[in-house]
Amino acid sequence: MTPSTPPSTSTPDSHRLDGRVAIVTGAGSRTDDIGNGRAAALLLARRGAAVLLLDMQEGAARHTCALIESEGGRALARQADVSRAADCEAAVQAAVAQWGRVDILVNNVGIGGPAGNAVEVGLEEWETALRVNVTSMMLMAKYAIPEMRRVGAGSIVNIASVAGLLGGTPSLLYPTSKGAVVNMTRAMAAHHGLEGIRVNCVAPGMVYTPMVASRMTPEAREERRKRSLLQTEGSGWDVGHAVAYLASDEARWVTGVILPVDAGATAGQVKSPTLSADAVRSA
Ligand SMILES: NC(=O)c1ccc[n+]([C@@H]2O[C@H](COP(=O)([O-])OP(=O)(O)OC[C@H]3O[C@@H](n4cnc5c(N)ncnc54)[C@H](O)[C@@H]3O)[C@@H](O)[C@H]2O)c1
Repeated sequence: MTPSTPPSTSTPDSHRLDGRVAIVTGAGSRTDDIGNGRAAALLLARRGAAVLLLDMQEGAARHTCALIESEGGRALARQADVSRAADCEAAVQAAVAQWGRVDILVNNVGIGGPAGNAVEVGLEEWETALRVNVTSMMLMAKYAIPEMRRVGAGSIVNIASVAGLLGGTPSLLYPTSKGAVVNMTRAMAAHHGLEGIRVNCVAPGMVYTPMVASRMTPEAREERRKRSLLQTEGSGWDVGHAVAYLASDEARWVTGVILPVDAGATAGQVKSPTLSADAVRSA
């Protein structure tokens, strides 16, 4: 396969990823439902990419693979712990062995990590979670970028969270690690722009994925929906669509961007429906 030349302008086919090879980390999901990584992988495959699906739980990655293949897409599932350098290196080599190149990397793996503020959190749990949420993204980039250089172009999409843009969460680890992903994205974009490699970040709000379903009551879910500016609940698909856009040539002039996908959570708070129009105007 010959290296692709990025188009000088957008074309009707700019959304297509035919001939491109993508790697998605955390491409499984803890249930058969749709998480952010599974949605991103399916949407990249629908645009024509061949997708290497990495997950610590091989069965979960295989399930995503079966979904993609049932739609006629191309994918390969592989067990990997992306907090381990050897697994990251072997994964990139597997993509190259299978399809000859790497064009797209979606660094989706992230965990909630330990609870607690600075006084309460355990050092060992803190360091382990930072390795999963931050170091894994550097490791995957370390091995994927040389392959993108060979192609002459590439797109990396890191998944952060609105928790990385705001304070106010009970744990210290999660917002700290996601804030690091936000600025790692900008730093990587500056390092690799001249090489034609774009690096962007999606910062999801609390979308309803299996991770969230496992720890949210129906009441809390409804309360969250009502707090959103759009009064709707998001899903992994909302995150996946943003990833697919940033990965494609539609975003050829976009790098170093942090894109909140959060129904406006970082833009402001919904006005109380109990306030009169006059009170709102004078507020
Ligand atoms: N769900 C939300 O509301 C939400 C909000 C903001 C950000 N995010 C972020 O989106 C990303 C995905 O979230 P999700 O809700 O889809 O999660 P999920 O738990 O449903 O899926 C994540 C997948 O990653 C895998 N994984 C975990 N650690 C791994 C490791 N070390 N190596 C390889 N695979 C590993 C898990 O097995 C799982 O299949 C995370 O980075 C998360 O922080 C989620």
